[in-house]
Amino acid sequence: MRKLLPLIGTPSGSHPGGRSALTCRYRCGDACFHEVPNTSSNEYVGDVIAGALSRRAALRAAAVVTVAATTGTAAVSAAAPQARAATPNATPTASPARTHAARGLRFTPVAPNTDDTVTVPDGYRQNVVIRWGDPILRGAPAFDPENQTAAAQAGQFGYNNDFLALLPLPGERHRQLLVANHEYTDEVIMFRGYDPANPTRQQVEVAWAAHGLAAVVVEEEHGTGRLTAVPRHPLNRRVTATGEFRLTGPAAGSELLRTSADPTGRKVLGTLNNCSGGTTPRGTTLHGEENFNQYFANGSRATDQRYGIGTGATERKWERFDRRFDLAQEPNEVHRFGYVVEFDPYDPSSTPRKRTALGRFKHEAATVGLTEDGRPVVYSGDDERFDYFYKFVGSKRMRHGSSRAVREHNLSLLDEGTLYVARLTGDSPAYDIDGSGRLPGDGEFDGSGVWIPLATATAHGAVSHVEGMTAEEVFVFTRLAGDKAGATKMDRPEDIQPSPHTGKVYVVLTNNTNRGKAGSAPADEANPRNANKHGHILELTERHDRPESTTFAWSLFLVAGDPADPSTYFAGYPKDRVSPVSCPDNVAFDPHGNLWISTDGNQLGSHDGLFGVATRGDRRGELKQFLTVPTGAETCGPIVQDRRVLVAVQHPGEIDGATVEKPASTWPDGPGRIVRPAVVAVWRADGCDIGV
Ligand code: FEO
Ligand code: CA
Ligand code: CA
Repeated sequence: MRKLLPLIGTPSGSHPGGRSALTCRYRCGDACFHEVPNTSSNEYVGDVIAGALSRRAALRAAAVVTVAATTGTAAVSAAAPQARAATPNATPTASPARTHAARGLRFTPVAPNTDDTVTVPDGYRQNVVIRWGDPILRGAPAFDPENQTAAAQAGQFGYNNDFLALLPLPGERHRQLLVANHEYTDEVIMFRGYDPANPTRQQVEVAWAAHGLAAVVVEEEHGTGRLTAVPRHPLNRRVTATGEFRLTGPAAGSELLRTSADPTGRKVLGTLNNCSGGTTPRGTTLHGEENFNQYFANGSRATDQRYGIGTGATERKWERFDRRFDLAQEPNEVHRFGYVVEFDPYDPSSTPRKRTALGRFKHEAATVGLTEDGRPVVYSGDDERFDYFYKFVGSKRMRHGSSRAVREHNLSLLDEGTLYVARLTGDSPAYDIDGSGRLPGDGEFDGSGVWIPLATATAHGAVSHVEGMTAEEVFVFTRLAGDKAGATKMDRPEDIQPSPHTGKVYVVLTNNTNRGKAGSAPADEANPRNANKHGHILELTERHDRPESTTFAWSLFLVAGDPADPSTYFAGYPKDRVSPVSCPDNVAFDPHGNLWISTDGNQLGSHDGLFGVATRGDRRGELKQFLTVPTGAETCGPIVQDRRVLVAVQHPGEIDGATVEKPASTWPDGPGRIVRPAVVAVWRADGCDIGV
């Protein structure tokens, strides 16, 4: 049903983070209902007024290497298009004409809606590439939700696909290698008759196997843009919550990481809550372990509380089936989660590695740039209200070649370097930031920033730069190090992406309804709205255009919401010519340099969606909605190639009160079939490039 958007307002029954109670329960362990874990008294932007760096310095393109292949063929599809054109917002203004928009954004925007389907622009087609339960490994059975087993699930595509990477597959025509995160499980809409108070061992073991990562080869259908999975390909792989991972870098082997099952502190079983990620220049993928806290019971220490670990039982009750999830029995097990995982999808026998040099927090993503001399720079946000964003600058250069020695060398790049946290200062006086989102007197939310070093890892040991903390402590309790260093409390830092076209870095802040509440940090120039429910995006310019720089300039690129809301800002672009957007989360660049934004928890009454926005030229700030997702779903993992857009439709049907018996969504297979998270490909019916 199409729904008109309230100008400002919270959809009834939604939770503070903008999602259903069910989402809060299973995705982040009801984080919004717990105390904000950051009770540190470090400064916020408004405390310090300092001169801004010139952020208008000329920029060179950063040496970001994009591995994603550009593919696409002439498309003539008979598939049901499910297309619908509409004006871009609730205000009766002219729709941007298809031929008069930024290159890459020349499509008729999709109207906000609450339809239980994926809606794409007029003239575009779509198909479901792969769904939860589709068999991908040799011997895996067809999906049978009524008789699901852990063994079956371990050979099938996992649950709640999030980050996606699409990598080239040399030598195999029309094929690419898809890598996906499986962030978490929604037991009540996965298992018929599920009893949350008494999950069975079988259900728990299926959930373990439904977490983790997947690699699966996909093939383009000749003559269309349709993508389909290639089952049983030798590169297809699943890793789950129980497979072997290696801890590497400065904290590996530390006392803090040793458990009774692993006295070495170097081997971990499984990865949990992999949210978004990134792709490295050498074709490995990075995966952020985000809300890992929710899987561990009986936390009791101060460090546990800073990470939001509960003192009682967990929602999923895994601690009843494996003692490592009970911190009263295995207090260090939780120190082995909350890292960035590096995965080599081209080597199915490789052991994924958790990179402790990138710190331990709720990593949303990990995106990679390169210094001019070939060292990796990794940006990562800590997705929690009032938490921080970080940068790692490697000290070793990437080598080229495919010899074993080169591969070994490149596998160590993320183990040595310096981890920094961001501190931002506004250039307008504090009295000019009133929490309403009104632009300050200088016409811009902007200022300067520093990357504060926390610790440096070398081949010969690690050095802490934080008084009172050892280097190991910095890498394992990174949030505490950020507190001590005086990092800036942000409105839920999610994805961070350097533009491959300009080198500018985009920091996505989803929302923070606690901003300005009694006892919480008030609005500041970098987070200028109190009770910020729609989020914003910050544009950061590293000094001298060097990604390894320790200083930067910043300004707000986008302040999200209904464009008729005076607190919104679209990089100065006329607001009567943009789509409404709320709760930006993950982002990606298209080949033209436009930023594509997927949303999580739309607070304007529409379903979540995918939007493209111009970042350069006369149309900078022009934002248009490309698709919407089904009931209860979040849009994740966007990839925008020349001729294809890919999204992960995560947690469809995740609505309060929904169960297998009483589903809130019947996507993608229709009535009578269980709702299934899935990956969707979109292309142009006429075979031309997206948005041109
Ligand atoms: Fe998994 Fe921060 O979203
Ligand atoms: Ca300013
Ligand atoms: Ca996310």
